[in-house]
Amino acid sequence: MTRLTTLAALCLATSPALADTFDMIKIDAGETLFDRECRRCHAVDSTDPSYGPPLEDVVYRAAGSYEGYDYSIALEASGIVWTPAALRAWMEDNKGFMPGTKMRHVGIEDRTVQDFILAYLTSISDVEKNKAISD
Ligand code: HEC
Repeated sequence: MTRLTTLAALCLATSPALADTFDMIKIDAGETLFDRECRRCHAVDSTDPSYGPPLEDVVYRAAGSYEGYDYSIALEASGIVWTPAALRAWMEDNKGFMPGTKMRHVGIEDRTVQDFILAYLTSISDVEKNKAISD
């Protein structure tokens, strides 16, 4: 969802449950933070050029499974699934979490920032489908 659509949805909703409004704000903030911290290397639409693997649908996706991307051996052989906890650990210290990865250290230690980016990544993922595949 683009920021404009999110804002429009916020304005149009007559009596949104508070939780929904809060979620939308988190997703919107997460998109802004993603744009600042991750977008230069990661597309969220696989038809766009992407230096790193595209991150659309990444939540609960098996690590190293984006078809055609040339992953490091460490990532490809990790056998992990991108759960929210794994994504947090990765954002916080990707090199420590997975020695040998070729992603440059990003070091996002602020849990709120992690939360927002996670909310955004979840909003562009088919979590139920991915969970069914990784189970
Ligand atoms: C400087 C470029 C760069 C930045 C900035 C960057 N990444 Fe990455 N990312 C990469 C590369 C390159 C890989 C592939 C790593 C490998 O193969 O070891 C990667 C891999 C990943 C993966 C694994 C995906 C998969 O298909 O298994 C995730 C998840 C990820 N990055 C999330 C993020 C997030 C979230 C941010 C922002 C907080 C971010 N990255 C910032 C370059 C970057």
